[in-house]
This record gives sequence, C-alpha cells and structure tokens, in this order.
Amino acid sequence: MSLVEIESFTLDVQVVEASARVIHEVSFKLEAGQSIGIVGESGSGKSLTLRAIAGLSPENSVVGGKISFQGEEVSAMDRERLMQYRSSQVAMIFQDPRSAINPVRKVGDFLTENVVTNLGWSKSDAKTKAIEVLTEVGISNPEKQLKAFPSELSGGMLQRVMIASNLLCQPDLLLADEPTTALDVTTQSSVMALIDQLRLSRGMAMIFVSHNLELATAVCDKILVMYAGRIVELLPAENLREKSRHPYTRALLDARPRLDGRQNRLNAIPGQPASGLEWTQGCTFAARCAFAQDICRSEVPVLRKIQESDVACHRADEIDWDVS
Ligand SMILES: Nc1ncnc2c1ncn2[C@@H]1O[C@H](COP(=O)(O)OP(=O)(O)O)[C@@H](O)[C@H]1O
Ligand SMILES: [Mg+2]
Repeated sequence: MSLVEIESFTLDVQVVEASARVIHEVSFKLEAGQSIGIVGESGSGKSLTLRAIAGLSPENSVVGGKISFQGEEVSAMDRERLMQYRSSQVAMIFQDPRSAINPVRKVGDFLTENVVTNLGWSKSDAKTKAIEVLTEVGISNPEKQLKAFPSELSGGMLQRVMIASNLLCQPDLLLADEPTTALDVTTQSSVMALIDQLRLSRGMAMIFVSHNLELATAVCDKILVMYAGRIVELLPAENLREKSRHPYTRALLDARPRLDGRQNRLNAIPGQPASGLEWTQGCTFAARCAFAQDICRSEVPVLRKIQESDVACHRADEIDWDVS
C-alpha cells in the first residue's frame, strides 16, 4: 500500500451560480519516505491538490475521485478523525508563516496547543518536547523564545517555529507549499536545508510545492508538473533537466534564470498561464505551444509512459529536444 494514493482527483468550485472544474483527473502515488515536487506556474492547481490531501479543500468546492492516506479515504474522515489526522499524521508548512500563526498568542502556546488539546499531552511534557524541537530547528535560547510573541521573531525564525510545531508528533508526511518563497534569499536556503535534513533524518515523505524547479529537483525524488489543473508530466527528478519531454516542462526549464553565464535574460513563456477553469477542446497548453498541431487543439492528451516519464502530450515522442 502506498502512503498516499490519489485517483482521478477532481475539484469543482462554485463560481457565482455555476460550478466549474479547476482540477482535472489528477492521479499519482507517494510511497512512505518518498518526496514529490509539484511545479508549475501560478494558478495551475498545486495548492488545491496539496490542501486536498490534508482534507482542507475550500468550502465552496466539491472533491471528486479518491484521495487516501495509508489506505484510508480522506473524504470519509469525520471531524474528529480529521483533527487527529492533521495533528499527528500529516504536517503542513505554508508560504507565509505569519498568516498561519495567531499574532496575539505566545510562541510556546502555539507550539503546545495542538498536542495538549487534541492529543491529550500534559503541559509539562509538551513544553519539554517544544524546547527539544526548537533546538532541533536551530533556535537558540528556546526557553526564552517560548515566551515571545510572533511579532518579535523574524520571518525565517517564524518559519522555523512552524517547522518545529510540525515535528512535535512525528508525522509520516510533510506537505510544504512554497515554504521559503516569503523569506529573503539567504534565509531561504538555510530553511530549505533544514526541511530537507529533518525530512531525511525522520524518514518523512514530502510533497513540496514550488515554482523553483532547481530547488524541487534538489530535494525531491520525483517531479510532477501541473498545467491548468492537470498533470502534464511526472518523472524522476534526476531526469528533469535532460530527459523531460513535455513542451511545457521544457518551457519552464527555459524560463528559469540561468546562472551559467550563457544567458542572463529571463525567458518568459509566451502567453498567459491558464487555470483549470479555462475550457478548451484539446490540450490546454496548445495555445502557447510552438509544436501544436490540429490534434492538439481537438483532443485532450492523456498521460502515457515514455521511458521513465509519464507525459500528456500528443507529440512527446516526436520532438527531439536538444539539451546540450
Ligand atoms: N476557493 C476557490 N474558489 C474558486 N476558485 C479557486 C479557489 N481556490 C483556487 N481557485 C482557482 O483554482 C486555480 C488553482 O489554484 P491553486 O491551486 O491555488 O494554484 P497554484 O497553487 O498552482 O498557484 C486558480 O486559478 C484559482 O483561481
Ligand atoms: Mg499556490
């Protein structure tokens, strides 16, 4: 049994009076201890997919298909079970730590509240463990920091507190949604290194959402590329740079800032990113794709296996990418 199994996941949101699909038939599996990076432009459905795994889909939405954690369907969990699931089995780190932490409560209360209220730990056990995890995430003088208010900590420190709060009860899965995007560049790399090191030492699985392909490749086993609410390519991370085949993946790679001096201009992908809400008859990327032909505008491509990749492109096996 896989740790997480997602089968034909769809998400319909209520927009004005009508319902519209933003996530289309997303299926993938995550094994225990494995890490998957979800990449794609803004609006491609990365956060909605990640949140659905935690049972946190928006109120105005309807989930279709099946999402299971250790064989148990997330949509079948009642309130109490969901609370337990989120407080002890899955951990979540979001982009902006300040929006996830109550500004008027002390750091110590934030850290211990969940385990005391939901898991029945004693206050003194929770405090001892909180000091232990704060030390583990590199916060010096943890006893003092327990009494601090969030406003007294920098963004990087606060993200470390968020990470610590997730480590109190040994979760099996870490869901991280652009965890370093809101931080300054130097803090970004130290926080990312911390997440990576803690994940590996604890054998946690991870789903890591990022628009930074380089970073996702460095910390993940597999890369899942989303466009307009669909998976367009799923492949081993080490194959991304040289063996990815979807024109969208190649365009994303090309759109990265290059540090090797060969090109210092940021190549944006022509056209506007599409969301899953946009209806098209064929491939949603066709409007922006240099390789699109008639079939691409009339038939939705399904994922098919080409060597080690799963690719949703009618022309994936014809295009010869020069990656030198
Ligand atoms: N609660 C919601 N109601 C309606 N549409 C939503 C809601 N949440 C997200 N969306 C739409 O779904 C699409 C995907 O969102 P999201 O998963 O947040 O994208 P990403 O994280 O890849 O930037 C976006 O186009 C967004 O506008
Ligand atoms: Mg997002």
